[in-house]
Amino acid sequence: MGNERGTNEVTVEQRVEALREVLRHHEHLYYVMDAPEWTDAQYDARMNELRALEAEHPEMVTADSPTQRVGGKPKDGFAKVAHSRPMLSLDNAYNEGDLRAWSERVAGGLALGESVRYVCELKLDGLSLALQYEAGRGGEAVLRSGVTRGDGTVGEDVTTNVRTIRSVPLHVSAKALKAAGLPQRFEVRGEVVLPQKAFERMNAEREAAGLAAAANPRNAAAGTIRTLEPNVVAQRRLEFFAYFLLSAGGQGEPTVGEALLQEQSAALKGLRAAGFLVNPNAKTVDSIDGVMAFLAEADAQRDGLPYEIDGVVIKVDAVAQQRRLGFTGKAPRWAIAYKFPARAAVTRLEDVLFQVGRTGKVTPVAVLAAVSIGGTTVTRATLHNADEIARLGVRIGDFVSVERGGDVIPKITEVVEDAKHARGEREIVFPAVCPRCGEVLVREPGEVDLRCVNVSCPARVEEELRHFASRGVMNVEGLGEALIAQLLGHTLAEATAEGAAEGANDAVEEPTRTALVHSIADIYALTKAQLLTLERVGEKTADALLEQVERSKAAPLNRVLLGLGIRHVGERTAQALAEEFGSMDALMAATEEELTRVNDIGPKVAATVREFFANERNVALVERLRGFGLTFTAERRVRGTTLTGKTLVLTGTLPTLTREAAKERIEAAGGKVSGSVSKKTDYVVAGEEAGSKLEKAQQLGVAVLDEAGLLALLQG
Ligand code: IVH
Repeated sequence: MGNERGTNEVTVEQRVEALREVLRHHEHLYYVMDAPEWTDAQYDARMNELRALEAEHPEMVTADSPTQRVGGKPKDGFAKVAHSRPMLSLDNAYNEGDLRAWSERVAGGLALGESVRYVCELKLDGLSLALQYEAGRGGEAVLRSGVTRGDGTVGEDVTTNVRTIRSVPLHVSAKALKAAGLPQRFEVRGEVVLPQKAFERMNAEREAAGLAAAANPRNAAAGTIRTLEPNVVAQRRLEFFAYFLLSAGGQGEPTVGEALLQEQSAALKGLRAAGFLVNPNAKTVDSIDGVMAFLAEADAQRDGLPYEIDGVVIKVDAVAQQRRLGFTGKAPRWAIAYKFPARAAVTRLEDVLFQVGRTGKVTPVAVLAAVSIGGTTVTRATLHNADEIARLGVRIGDFVSVERGGDVIPKITEVVEDAKHARGEREIVFPAVCPRCGEVLVREPGEVDLRCVNVSCPARVEEELRHFASRGVMNVEGLGEALIAQLLGHTLAEATAEGAAEGANDAVEEPTRTALVHSIADIYALTKAQLLTLERVGEKTADALLEQVERSKAAPLNRVLLGLGIRHVGERTAQALAEEFGSMDALMAATEEELTRVNDIGPKVAATVREFFANERNVALVERLRGFGLTFTAERRVRGTTLTGKTLVLTGTLPTLTREAAKERIEAAGGKVSGSVSKKTDYVVAGEEAGSKLEKAQQLGVAVLDEAGLLALLQG
């Protein structure tokens, strides 16, 4: 690369390339190898430098730059595209007999006595995707598209969302291609999954926002990949596991004739060498006995995996043999999916309890006759709300079908009614008063849920404490469910049996001893002597807990804000508030208008934050926390001021800046980007194919800029 001044100085191009390369390397270490070598700060520093250089030199931005994961929203939804070759499903096997019968069919399709090797892989419970890579200019491969399975022939182009998945390489270097034995153009198929943790976080956020929780990680992943908001997808932390490699072909038969590598085991290796995330739990075996041993291993591993699997996929290793075996109408003969036994069972609904959550929401919980599902005894299942009960038409005494997946709370899927299973008689009646504190329950207009509005209800305090102490919030290790219940005045037996309200919908629980804690702040006043009065708490436990409590005081302001459990304030919002206001005091003093000026905070969140700090009890709680020395300040994010107070709307495609880059720069200059044009809009930035927003701006007389105009404005 030329250097205009003829010195040894590094040119901007060289620096940009070097940054991209090193960022890609560390992303691979972090997201694929799970072996990071950099701290987040080290990574961020390079990423910010690259972003700044690209902002100064927009002509250097390339689609495969690490800065370009989150792009603009797809304008008209997802386009339908045909797959290069059909994405078939697999035939299923449910037991050893099915597998042996399959292996005999395989043997029958090959020459007499020919040996066969099988590759066993985990069957990841997500949704399949096809990724196409095309030739880049410097001998590398770049991601061109990501398409869902759809009906197997035509899928949806979800490239904008696939790009946000960190384990999907946007770029495979020429060197990596060579090591992997891959050409510049190829197709990779694999499974998108939402890891358990990300699933739980997503549901917690949905619940905080008053939305229905996703039933399982698979549905959550499917919903996420079809979301029209790439930045939401980016936050969800989907993962992509590659398991199938194809040549970049035209359309045609589902043939494997064009396989790039001659064994499935080699394809997995090649994909790994090219930088894809390939599930490490795969094994090549040479008999069905070997397959059976793998199944046992997979079953034992299942609950410890960070994502869900629903079986094992077994493939004939040699592509030459695959080719000879071919396909039936809908599935390859050379592969089969062994499905784990369903984690479902039929049992009797004995009763319904009503649990009070952190926000006072009352949730009906099914009490079931104990039943073993996939090795775990289940006695409880969620019934969600009154609508769900009505949908199921369930009564106490009914036999119900219960499903359990991964760590998800068991769920009742239907009422069983046949000659052997008589219907129950007792209607499920929601209580009129809170089962914990006796306060009259309230149903807000337009909501399905009943709520206990007593902010001091012990059930609510219990949930607040659980949330406050949990990982990712104040992280007070050792302050678990049983201990919290004891701190609130219950005995350990009551706490673990959650028995008190059982069978008595309207009975109010009485604590059996005095509570040591009435609000989250009280944990900072606990003494060792008090802790020692609790069951199963000795010297060591007490000391460890006190140390953890003390340590939590150093948790940053965003965690404290999250811990307060303000409705609609999740991890990201808490972070934004801390960075924007820099202190608890500034936040408490903020008006609704100032709050809405923070990016990503809408009127709904602003109102709940205001409401929270307008409540005396909450202010008292905050003041007590201050008294205990919790962290009440944070580093403010310094913003430019050239666009302070200005609202801009982006429309159409800008010549060099992506939508996201333009938004970032406007926000960095203190401005706000809105999605719709109104009289309050200061500028509309219009690119090519700008539509109704531009028209509206012209109607309302709002100033319209092109990209050059925006850049000039940003300069101040
Ligand atoms: S191979 C022609 N391998 O299971 C080969 N599929 O029941 C097609 N799946 O549609 C797929 N893990 O969505 C393959 N290691 C794995 C898999 C896997 C999960 C899914 C995939 C497929 C379905 C078939």
